[in-house]
Amino acid sequence: MKVEIVENKNLASIKVASLLHQQILKKKNSTIGLATGNTMVGVYDAFKVLVKEHKTDLSNVQFFMLDEYWEISIDHPASFKSYLLNALAGLNISPSQFHFHRTDLKEEEATEHYNKSIEAAGGIDLQLLGIGLNGHIGFNEPQTPFSQTTHVIELTESTILANAKDFMGANPTHAITMGIKNIMDAKSIVLLALGESKAEIMKRALQGSIDIDCPASILQKHKNLDVVLDQLAASKMAPRSAVESRV
Ligand code: GLP
Repeated sequence: MKVEIVENKNLASIKVASLLHQQILKKKNSTIGLATGNTMVGVYDAFKVLVKEHKTDLSNVQFFMLDEYWEISIDHPASFKSYLLNALAGLNISPSQFHFHRTDLKEEEATEHYNKSIEAAGGIDLQLLGIGLNGHIGFNEPQTPFSQTTHVIELTESTILANAKDFMGANPTHAITMGIKNIMDAKSIVLLALGESKAEIMKRALQGSIDIDCPASILQKHKNLDVVLDQLAASKMAPRSAVESRV
């Protein structure tokens, strides 16, 4: 695991965008797992700047969505699909390059379809991740078995509340998400956390025991994990480890 602590959230977003950009320069036909949430907004902005500056060819890249709300239309303005199309607008990515979750199918078909699409693409080369306040990654809430692949999950109260502002009352209570096994199978993972609200859970995830109470703790076992934190998100890490990993 490589942990990079940078001064502020803008620099952290630029760092993650540049890891993503380098992956695509290294392998034109990369498969990228994309995350959503407020944390990622600055990453996609910085990524767009890099792609435009370098005239990077994205035409062979495939993009996979980490997760999606289950019981709203995929084209709802607050869906993760809408978020992402908006975040990457202007990059001339063809719709066929995006793999969205099939929330129009029955649960079993939708999950099988997604696992098979990832497999058919040869797996995920780089998976971007944010983290929920309770340590969820994607929508893998605490107690989700580490062995699970794509599945539909009931959201916890704290996650429903954290996302409520997007829904004006009709908050979705279920979501479809890549499972922890899909995430851990990615060849590389970049985890970004920003702000003081994430400090406690980052300490738990990176320096606590590995168990299903904190889904993100399993990432400690990944062979190719980059963690990028701003100073606030790193503020509760045990000083010795935090200093050692500072670059
Ligand atoms: C959401 C998403 C996660 C995201 C997390 C953090 O529920 N399912 O993929 O990482 O919450 O979101 P934010 O970046 O807004 O704090």
